[in-house]
Amino acid sequence: MRIDVVSIFPEYLAPLELSLIGKARQDGLLHLNVHDLRDFTTDKHRSVDDTPYGGGAGMVMKAEPWAQALASVAAAGEGKAARPVLIVPSPAGERFSQALAYELAEEEQLVFACGRYEGIDERVLEWAEEHFSVRPVSLGDYVLNGGEVAVLAMVEAIGRLLPGVVGNPDSLVEESHSDGLLEYPVYTKPSVWRGREVPPVLLSGNHGKIAQWRRHEQFRRTAERRPDLLETFDAGKLPRADRTALAELGYDVVDGQLRTRTDAPD
Ligand code: ADE
Repeated sequence: MRIDVVSIFPEYLAPLELSLIGKARQDGLLHLNVHDLRDFTTDKHRSVDDTPYGGGAGMVMKAEPWAQALASVAAAGEGKAARPVLIVPSPAGERFSQALAYELAEEEQLVFACGRYEGIDERVLEWAEEHFSVRPVSLGDYVLNGGEVAVLAMVEAIGRLLPGVVGNPDSLVEESHSDGLLEYPVYTKPSVWRGREVPPVLLSGNHGKIAQWRRHEQFRRTAERRPDLLETFDAGKLPRADRTALAELGYDVVDGQLRTRTDAPD
């Protein structure tokens, strides 16, 4: 995969040289290039922003440097992807998720446009539709100072899904959000730490019981921390043991969907 990131703070992306993503780059699994937006300006102050039409607080990023930068990365990636995906990190975008990470991990080329200030002149996004599949994406319902931190998170989430990046691909299957549930709790030695024991079932050697316990814990945790995930969870084909576990937590399966029990006994 080829990834291009355009930013006025290219140094912000330095952590992408570390750890698994850094190694994936060294191994040639991920070709990541960071570009300085100011290299695509033509005035002596290398200015990238101006006051907003219509008034209001803050500054808006000018269209022309962005068009120059994006045309340049599109040309550099030519032949890689017919239509690269242009991801514009923004609190006004669609929500980033594990499902979107999996979808984007299939692409040949991703381009990230890091906005700052009040955002990028909207006409850039319209123009970019001619060359890219444009997707404004939000990390969550809060406001960052710019897109760089969001790019760090998204590149890590996408990059680790590329074949060969994570040593043991099984760990991708069992982690949080891979099946719409949160991950079960994990423990390591010693079996008793500061008077706290590891759940005995994990020491039993009974793999069936361990799998069942872990599944139950996934449901328990998800119900406690993220009940919203259970509202959209596909419960159509759940085995009886799962239904029993959910029933104990107060959830019934109705038409393949989970419903909290309203007829709970007094
Ligand atoms: N830029 C500023 N806030 C953001 C957010 N929540 N997600 C993605 N990019 C952003």
